[in-house]
Amino acid sequence: MVVQMMEQLTQEKTLDKDSEHEKKRNAEKNDKVIKLGVAFSTTMVPSSSALSKNRNRSAYSEVLERLKKDFYQRWDRKSVSSSSGLDEFLKIKTLGTGSFGRVILVKHKENSKDAYYAMKCIEKLRIMKLKQIEHTLYEKKISESIRFPFIISLDFAFKDNSYIYFVMPFINGGEMFTHLRRMRRFTEVLSRFYAAQVLLALEFLHYCDILYRDLKPENILIDHKGYLKIADLGFCKIVKGRTWTLCGTPEYIAPEIILSKGYGKAVDWWSYGVLLFEMNAGYPPFTSSDPMKVYERIITCRYKCPGTFSTELQDLIKNMLQLDLSRRFGNLRNGTQDMKNHRWFKDTDWLALYNRQIEPPFKPAIKSVADTSNFDPFDEETIRISDHDLYKDEFEKF
Ligand SMILES: Nc1ncnc2c1ncn2[C@@H]1O[C@H](COP(=O)(O)OP(=O)(O)O)[C@@H](O)[C@H]1O
Ligand SMILES: [Mg+2]
Repeated sequence: MVVQMMEQLTQEKTLDKDSEHEKKRNAEKNDKVIKLGVAFSTTMVPSSSALSKNRNRSAYSEVLERLKKDFYQRWDRKSVSSSSGLDEFLKIKTLGTGSFGRVILVKHKENSKDAYYAMKCIEKLRIMKLKQIEHTLYEKKISESIRFPFIISLDFAFKDNSYIYFVMPFINGGEMFTHLRRMRRFTEVLSRFYAAQVLLALEFLHYCDILYRDLKPENILIDHKGYLKIADLGFCKIVKGRTWTLCGTPEYIAPEIILSKGYGKAVDWWSYGVLLFEMNAGYPPFTSSDPMKVYERIITCRYKCPGTFSTELQDLIKNMLQLDLSRRFGNLRNGTQDMKNHRWFKDTDWLALYNRQIEPPFKPAIKSVADTSNFDPFDEETIRISDHDLYKDEFEKF
């Protein structure tokens, strides 16, 4: 039964969404500041004291509550993309490709000289073929409603006869994936700085009842200062209870998804454990050239931490990579406090981090705002637009 499901999984198209990056992984196997209101200022109390920690925590709960309210206010607004816009942008270079289309560095023709953006072009035909219309609508609606320091936002969206377009700020430091492979592995100091931001981002998404479902270094961008932006909201969905869709990336997928069980927010905490491991080791915990073996290792939770991991890190990973949902951190009574209060994060000032007041341990080398040297080269393709409006009704809500 399990094997049958796993076979189905390997064939599942949605799993293969990030095929370019899958290729990258396989190839390797083979050889804006959001400030808190004054009321939440931390400067009055030294943040290392217990009193201050409690104050920070309740101040942060108020922040989350406000962010959620803002999110749902934007979410409830009806916004339909204009059917023109492409002509306003000058295409410069492809930054990345996925299975639907590509992300291109563009410059707004009329705006000031530094008006660079990343434009995700998604072909309507491919969305229809891969039955991703609901996911893509979620991607648009969620990304236009989200404002969080460590998550990508949407500046414009438009559509034409053949494509839909999402225009986002260009995050020029490149993917975490690129830097991780360049450095081979991150120090625990750097991993902790990144892991803390991802934790706050997932905590915020879950607070808004949004599942992320595609956490991995390819989808995490580094900005010019060295802070993170989680990109690719393509599998984000508002889920209050459980859901059943098979999606994700093999190495990062949670066991309950493989086993076709209904699943919830805990899947993101599993992937978070995988990310913690990969950042510190340079490779993911469950890996094999055979996807079936990857799934087998995941459902039996077979992995080994390198001896270089600190005992605190090993302990945190052990608590994230839990098959038993009643023991997996993030999914327990105390929610994200179990991670935030964990020894590995003992020196992390969560409020200062949210306010981007911590000096990043690593800054990507960037020569100019439009520097693409932190991105892999891709073959360029001309975007061909049909004479008639394809799938007009299906994309009416975009
Ligand atoms: N805002 C952005 N700034 C810079 N590069 C980006 C941005 N958004 C996406 N990219 C690049 O394009 C790649 C593909 O984008 P993504 O949204 O992940 O598409 P897909 O859903 O096809 O995986 C990313 O992995 C990244 O390299
Ligand atoms: Mg992606």
